[in-house]
Amino acid sequence: MDRMNLNLVVGDTPIRNEAVSVYRARAALRAALEGPRRDRRTIGLVPTMGFLHEGHLSLLRAARAECDLVVMSLFVNPAQFGPGEDLDRYPRDEERDLWLAGDAGADVVYAPPVAEVYPDGFATAVAVSGQLTEVLDGDPARRSPAHFRGVTTVVAKLFNLVGPDVAYFGQKDAQQAAVIRRMAADLDFPVRIEVLPIVREADGLAMSSRNAYLEPADRERAVALSRALITVEREARSATLQAGLEAGRHELAAAGIEPEYLEARDAERLDPVAELGDRPVLVALATQIGAARLIDNVLIQP
Ligand code: PAJ
Repeated sequence: MDRMNLNLVVGDTPIRNEAVSVYRARAALRAALEGPRRDRRTIGLVPTMGFLHEGHLSLLRAARAECDLVVMSLFVNPAQFGPGEDLDRYPRDEERDLWLAGDAGADVVYAPPVAEVYPDGFATAVAVSGQLTEVLDGDPARRSPAHFRGVTTVVAKLFNLVGPDVAYFGQKDAQQAAVIRRMAADLDFPVRIEVLPIVREADGLAMSSRNAYLEPADRERAVALSRALITVEREARSATLQAGLEAGRHELAAAGIEPEYLEARDAERLDPVAELGDRPVLVALATQIGAARLIDNVLIQP
């Protein structure tokens, strides 16, 4: 698919390499998307917080293959970080991200400063209520529903600003994907939500910007997460789901890992399930390893 030649807009200073135009201001981004929209070009949106890895790039490549114009957002969203979380030390490397994004097919990167997204007086939130945001990471003792409120608020703003035909998310953040699907359906956003598989390192560790926090010894230990999930699925299929979860816990314990949670839930509604049935089951796991809080999951298809 040919790259668009965007006409750059007064009032913003886009950095431009061969492939990608960067916008810092909402007005400039809107203006840049007017032409493509008028020409009925399809727009794909890939929201990210940057420090790109193959997981992010897989979303960009899918967008490139399916859409005429690929927009990536690059914004470390303060609203989704709780007090004491890693907002200040969240890894950043914008220059590298822009090259990687362009290489993977992004045409436009929206990389606003915080004040552009949350100007003085900002007072609105978009929140999905109920179980979807209250269990797993949404448990008030963990990241809490406030985390997901921060996610849905910023994603709703991006949907309004970009008006994507398709938006791409990773199964890595399975609960986030379920929450965003709910939000898009409930608020009548005319966007198709695509959720793509988890991209892993060669040894199975799910790629994550936060893997950068892992010391070498922790990095080695972290492989136990994906191993445990493989065990859960195998045992769940050959014996019972409960036996699977038990074996998974055992495997984590052997690596000295006490999970925050290791739970089986209906993949769409997130209510607890006791056994495999005729709907996909999400087995989700979170744990602190060294300086990193890591999540991973496996989707067990019926
Ligand atoms: P971030 O953690 O940067 O992730 C951006 C997107 O990449 C998310 O949809 C996430 O699920 C996906 N992703 C991350 N690791 C992946 C992997 N190993 N395989 C496949 N996809 C992966 O998630 C966020 O940012 C933010 O919450 C955001 C949606 C941008 C809102 O601020």
